[in-house]
Amino acid sequence: MASLGAMATTRLLGFLTWKAAAGSASARAVHGSAGRQQGYMSAWVIDQYGTNGVLRHTEEIPIPEINSSSDIMIKVNAASLNPLDVSMRAGYGAKLLKLRRDPFTVMDSESEFPLILGRDVSGVVVDCGRDVTHFTPGDEVWAAVSPWKQGSLAEYVKLTEYEVSHKPKTLSHVEAASIPYVASTSLSALVNAGGLCRDSCPNKRVLITGGSGGIGTFALQLLKAWGAHVTVTCSQNAEGLVRGLGADEVVDYTAGNVAEQMEEMEKFDVVLDNVGGNTEEWAMDLLKPWSGAKYVTLVTPFLFNTDSMGLLDGTLNAGLTLQSKAAQSFVSNGVFYRWGFYAPDGPFLDTISLLVDAGKILPVVEAQFPFSQVPQAFHKLEQGHARGKTVVKVSEEEEGLAEELMERSYAETEQEIQKNAK
Ligand SMILES: NC(=O)c1ccc[n+]([C@@H]2O[C@H](COP(=O)([O-])OP(=O)(O)OC[C@H]3O[C@@H](n4cnc5c(N)ncnc54)[C@H](OP(=O)(O)O)[C@@H]3O)[C@@H](O)[C@H]2O)c1
Repeated sequence: MASLGAMATTRLLGFLTWKAAAGSASARAVHGSAGRQQGYMSAWVIDQYGTNGVLRHTEEIPIPEINSSSDIMIKVNAASLNPLDVSMRAGYGAKLLKLRRDPFTVMDSESEFPLILGRDVSGVVVDCGRDVTHFTPGDEVWAAVSPWKQGSLAEYVKLTEYEVSHKPKTLSHVEAASIPYVASTSLSALVNAGGLCRDSCPNKRVLITGGSGGIGTFALQLLKAWGAHVTVTCSQNAEGLVRGLGADEVVDYTAGNVAEQMEEMEKFDVVLDNVGGNTEEWAMDLLKPWSGAKYVTLVTPFLFNTDSMGLLDGTLNAGLTLQSKAAQSFVSNGVFYRWGFYAPDGPFLDTISLLVDAGKILPVVEAQFPFSQVPQAFHKLEQGHARGKTVVKVSEEEEGLAEELMERSYAETEQEIQKNAK
């Protein structure tokens, strides 16, 4: 049996056991009677913004209360981390998120602390508000937790019915926790900003920059499931992973100028940019001009602006930046310039559940950590070079599976991705 320390460092790209189609998703159940949860729960919190040292484990966080008729209380089995958690730990987005949490507290000094991070959950429903119709206590569910809500690095998390979905039957909780936040963000970026949908994808060529990370590995699989032609940029050592997940063409950004490497390629209908920086300078030229092509970036200055300039000036400045870039891109390249953002969407997760259970989307879990090692999980994420997702196992129910998966080496599982994705 491996030690917890080893668990923290073991690369568990495994989890990609081929999942046979397991039939359709369960019919949505009608809410039955609920047992109220009371008392205190275990959670990782921050009491101030800062580096990893601000993370504190406590057993004394009050269990959230069902106080709206559409609330659902979930006992968390697994949570996952996203780059946003690391940024939020340091105070990123604090001004706007505080406003979103409670518009009436923006002018006063009421604190958002203790704040719980963690943006994904897979767990079991333990309680429901009286108007909840699709879920009942005992249901296994998954969801993305909006950044303005208390997160999932806790025993319980409270969400609304609209944000929650039945978890794919073929995934463990650890596997399931790796998907909701990147799925909701990818959907928002590709569909709302990129104008793509399942029916339009078969004729589309899409470029994903940063294809090896959390968003990239999910968006790539969704686009392939929808029939698009997908090219990704990533490091050379991630090529096996992204090809295994279905990438049609792979460009190694460490091998030289990406734009030059792609000069001969047919142009794209959509670029999904997960890297930012100067990507937009060269990516615009790779889009089909005057044909409705879109550049969508997930790396925006919006929250940074509201943090540094204040809510009003920051929002205005971001709006002007977006407007001027959009106008410039349209005039000079004949392409649309857009920002993509996470948006909560439980019903969309229902669709993803079907794709997962049909084996069309695989969870990509690079590393998992026990609940006792949340700071180590943050540290792992901060090192960068993600290959999929980092998951925290909150409940011990996943212990046996975790140990089994730990025994599989990175090389073995990468081969498995390639074999299974064929
Ligand atoms: N706007 C929103 O609402 C929203 C929501 C979610 C995420 N995001 C943002 O979207 C970005 C991607 O998120 P994520 O969760 O996928 O991050 P991630 O899991 O950290 O993945 C980033 C990936 O990009 C690769 N990479 C780094 N530099 C690259 C380059 N120049 N070219 C190609 N690949 C490169 C990294 O691997 P190597 O370094 O080894 O190459 C890594 O695999 C982050 O900046 C995140 O903050 C925004």
